[in-house]
Amino acid sequence: MAVEFSAEAKRELEEILKHYPNKQAALLPALHLAKREFKQITPEVMEYIGNLLDVPPIKVMDTVSFYTMFPREKEGKYVIQVCSTLSCSLMGAESVVEYIKKKLKIDVGETTPDGKFTLKKVECLGSCGTAPVMQINDDYYEQLTEEKIDQILDSLE
Ligand code: FES
Repeated sequence: MAVEFSAEAKRELEEILKHYPNKQAALLPALHLAKREFKQITPEVMEYIGNLLDVPPIKVMDTVSFYTMFPREKEGKYVIQVCSTLSCSLMGAESVVEYIKKKLKIDVGETTPDGKFTLKKVECLGSCGTAPVMQINDDYYEQLTEEKIDQILDSLE
């Protein structure tokens, strides 16, 4: 089935386009909208967005591949992104990742069988002073310990 924005998303895109000098310049916000609408940026979604904005498919593909926030495969309800850059690394990011892997019984890049959690390692989340840090969906969790991780993950529906 061909993908198509909902009526609300179409209205939002119209609003977005008003803030850009041309349709092509709105590629990133349009992809954010597509992520919210479709949860993943499949080849069909890339083609749809490319057609909407008159952007060649290869350019859409380049942009999607460059940014880690545009998943090409279905992700869990909660996407856990553990920072693995220097400050977090020095403060135990790898132990955080290992602990979550063991707790959820998944590897980095995988999703739990119930579709609840996806685990990712990412570059600096911009909160180096409170390392180690992870982001789950839109929320940041800092100065992580195993106890904190238990509390956080157990608190998510
Ligand atoms: S190094 Fe982890 S938030 Fe910057």
